[in-house]
Amino acid sequence: MTTTIRTQVGILGAGPAGLLLAHLLQKAGIDSVVIDGKSRDEIEGTVKAGIVESPAARVLAESGVSDRIYREGAKHDGIEFHVDGNAHRFDFQDLVQKSVYLYPQHEVLTDLIAARIRDGVPPLFGHLAESVQDAETTRPRIVGTTTEGEAFEISADVVVGADGSGSIARIPVCGSQRNGHYREYPFAWYGVLAEAPPSSDELIYSRSEQGFVLISTRDKNVQRMYFQCDPLLDASTVSDAEIWDTLQAGVSGTTLKQGPIIRKDVLRFRSFVAHELRKGRVFLMGDAAHTVPPTGAKGMNLAFSDVLWLNQALRSFFATGSEALMDAYPENALQRIWKAQHFSYWMTSMLHIAPDATEFDKLRSLGELASVTGSRSAQAYLAENYVGLDYGVGDWD
Ligand code: PHB
Repeated sequence: MTTTIRTQVGILGAGPAGLLLAHLLQKAGIDSVVIDGKSRDEIEGTVKAGIVESPAARVLAESGVSDRIYREGAKHDGIEFHVDGNAHRFDFQDLVQKSVYLYPQHEVLTDLIAARIRDGVPPLFGHLAESVQDAETTRPRIVGTTTEGEAFEISADVVVGADGSGSIARIPVCGSQRNGHYREYPFAWYGVLAEAPPSSDELIYSRSEQGFVLISTRDKNVQRMYFQCDPLLDASTVSDAEIWDTLQAGVSGTTLKQGPIIRKDVLRFRSFVAHELRKGRVFLMGDAAHTVPPTGAKGMNLAFSDVLWLNQALRSFFATGSEALMDAYPENALQRIWKAQHFSYWMTSMLHIAPDATEFDKLRSLGELASVTGSRSAQAYLAENYVGLDYGVGDWD
């Protein structure tokens, strides 16, 4: 027996992109069903990046998801680069009169899920999608099984794949999950969560002969820190003492406050943009459409740009029947996707030393860092991208 659910928009994935789209569509009177194979606890407990750009914070607050980010998030007016021990501050307020918010992604998810429940349309957790069918008809379907083993089908006017980097919606849209432009990197980040007070008021991005170190934070009791490592490193093989030594060696001018390490993980780096973002009535957005390496924390912020473009296109389609903005979605979304791809790649390449780097490569990248830190216009360029370019599409009321 298969349970069939009929809706206007079937959304795969209860991540930030899928949930925000459902919220915005509901405000325009469009009904949607969000499904996710994971449980609510798993989703809210996954460790992700912590930076919310200023335009993303505005969308969350002004569209009525929650303004908790302004009340409980920490406003950061700048970041520091440490280059071989020399500190340079990018003063965002001075350069571009904007800030970012340190507000961990699982808190954004908590707010988005609470808003769906508050508005009477909770996501369907434990609903694992197996395939997306009939993309090129007016009734695309999501077919899957619940964790209780019951078959289900979502029959929709439009299906949206917001199901992350392992997206199954890529199969009907691109022909396969791997069809895209991509780049691998010869390094990864070793990430830790430590129960310790913050060591710095602002984030420190450090580049030295030892490689890259990032000192970030979660709140006044838990800190998030990373150092560059081999992508094949097994996280469990590194001792706490080695971790603190590596982090401390990377930020020589700052004494790190230590505490118990409660989580260790290795984050692989990849840049990816799917070859297609739409096939018929099936669309891709967020990590299903593209992946960025973590430097600069653009993943969720970029996903919100896709959401706003698709929200605009679907509102127009359901109001008028016109597919013009649905047709324009890939081109509109890709403009910002490639800018964010460039920024994430640029921050990554500038701050890391590849294992096969020659002396020329190392000295050139020091020249690049000196150019950026030494020029007000270059600093403003970095700041403008770091705090987040305006989305260029509104319509969230
Ligand atoms: C994080 O806090 O996880 C974080 C912060 C800044 C980045 C990347 C990750 O550039």
